[in-house]
Amino acid sequence: MIGGQHLLGMQQLDSEQINAILSTAQGFLQVSRRTIKKVPSLRGRTIITLFYEASTRTRMSFELAGKRLSADTVNISASGSSVSKGESLHDTVMTLNAMQPDAVIVRHPASGAAAFIANRIDARVLNAGDGQHEHPSQALLDMLTIRQRFGKLEGLKVAIVGDIAHSRVARSNLIGLAKMGAQVRVAAPKTLLPRGLVEAYQCTICPNVEAALEGADVVMALRLQRERMEGAFLPNLREYAIEYGISTAMLDRCNPDGILMHPGPVNRGVELSPEVVDGPRSVILDQVENGVAVRMALLYLILGGEPA
Ligand code: NCD
Repeated sequence: MIGGQHLLGMQQLDSEQINAILSTAQGFLQVSRRTIKKVPSLRGRTIITLFYEASTRTRMSFELAGKRLSADTVNISASGSSVSKGESLHDTVMTLNAMQPDAVIVRHPASGAAAFIANRIDARVLNAGDGQHEHPSQALLDMLTIRQRFGKLEGLKVAIVGDIAHSRVARSNLIGLAKMGAQVRVAAPKTLLPRGLVEAYQCTICPNVEAALEGADVVMALRLQRERMEGAFLPNLREYAIEYGISTAMLDRCNPDGILMHPGPVNRGVELSPEVVDGPRSVILDQVENGVAVRMALLYLILGGEPA
């Protein structure tokens, strides 16, 4: 299993490990629904969340996951820490290491930052998003959400729409879904499609959103990662919304049971029209709930727990 390892990306997991993580997470779901939301599995363990980029869902759910497993969780963000006084990543990490944490969860704008930390620290490192590289816990919670709806991942038609080039969510899902035998198609403006995508991830590129949504079981919309864009990738947001924004009428092209996903945060009226966010196909809040369970499973397994 993944016990004793770092989790830096979906690249390192095989389908058996992915299934074991998802089943363990499914078991943890009920803990969050109880009145007393706590099990003793990680009592006495210390978990640090180290966030150099903004986050609502990922950071909160890792913190809640640790707390619901009875670990001591401590949060640090770049603003408000010595990072804002000019301390290097290396020095920050060595300082944390001296405090003997068991796991460090890291989000950083540089691709490769999680691996950099993993090479320097005794604790297990979980990548909570490094630049445009990977965001494995997001892909796993997405896969859990899909598996709950369809009972499987194999053979499902998944459409990923939006800023593929800058999205670590897209990359981790492309890697993970291919390993699980899903059929992934993507639709994006040409400037937001990285070269070599089809060869690297066994996906299909669709000429437009309509084609990508035709008969899709799952539609995964992505936020434009404007913080990672240097220069003009798009004429303007209005034109993007007209061509790539997903509306109710567009969703009618999906499989009748098709679901709409988004990792959040959503820019209503840009990648999704406002009504589809809260519409009947939306599973966006299921993704959030599953996020806590998946992160409980990851912390539990990485710190030596047995899979379900
Ligand atoms: C994503 C991220 O940070 O990569 N958000 C998340 O973790 N739920 C997607 C995004 O910011 O667009």
